[in-house]
Amino acid sequence: APDIDVDRVLGHLADLESIAAAHGGNRAHGQPGYTASLDHIEGLLDAAGYETHREPFTSGGVTGWNLIAEWPHAAGDEVLMAGAHLDSVRAGAGINDNGSGSAAILEVALAVAEADLRPDKQLRFGWWGAEELGLVGSRAHVAGLSAAERERFSAYLNFDMIGSPNAGYFVYDDDAAIEALFSDWFAERGIVTEPAVEARNRSDHAPFLSAGITVGGLFTGAGYTMTAAQAAQWGGTAGLPFDPCYHRVCDTLANLDETALDLNTDALAYAIWELS
Ligand code: PHE
Ligand code: CA
Ligand code: ZN
Ligand code: ZN
Ligand code: ZN
Repeated sequence: APDIDVDRVLGHLADLESIAAAHGGNRAHGQPGYTASLDHIEGLLDAAGYETHREPFTSGGVTGWNLIAEWPHAAGDEVLMAGAHLDSVRAGAGINDNGSGSAAILEVALAVAEADLRPDKQLRFGWWGAEELGLVGSRAHVAGLSAAERERFSAYLNFDMIGSPNAGYFVYDDDAAIEALFSDWFAERGIVTEPAVEARNRSDHAPFLSAGITVGGLFTGAGYTMTAAQAAQWGGTAGLPFDPCYHRVCDTLANLDETALDLNTDALAYAIWELS
């Protein structure tokens, strides 16, 4: 797998911050900042050779969309999917939550195109809408899969908050093999990971898990407080939340740990290459 250049991920985060600034300060469901975010990501994927489509759903009487991108050079029947929610809360631009996951899967998708990868599995990327209103987009997506389509999934990987400024290194523990793939990658770089207890069932992997699909993912922490033991392991400040700007207006470009964002994006690329 390639080493993803974190500056390119940060470039997309700057784009998302500008998009929020130009559209009332957020990228929330039903707001112009959400559709502008979709336009930006879809344009880059189309130019790179992805087959993209928007999947409509309704939340609160308002139409929203997921963006699905298929890499059209797959061989087998099995599907590997990575996803991230693209909507923010109304309070702000949502750069860590979840510009970080959105920009990371975008940059990995673009790296797949750049490498002209010919995977054994069908590779699919998804940007979910209205996660913040109760996983609405991802629930609609999974509800729309036939039993046969669900059975084709080898795994769904979720990325929601992977650049928290007081970062923890958390791996979803829903599937032991995927958990080990990630935790071994971090261990080789001297980082001890912990199970993502705070993330359990609280992001877009939950509908996939409920549908019997194998899931995994990475997370650097939200509102939970970093313990002294965790600060000793990872650096950072004990007694503060992993993300003090979680769901607040201060979730901007300044609200990131660039090292954590870089490592998590590189680990994501590794998982896509290994599992596809
Ligand atoms: N889903 C929640 C949010 O987006 C918090 C969360 C993030 C939970 C990542 C689990 C994993 O605000
Ligand atoms: Ca990197
Ligand atoms: Zn961009
Ligand atoms: Zn959130
Ligand atoms: Zn989130």
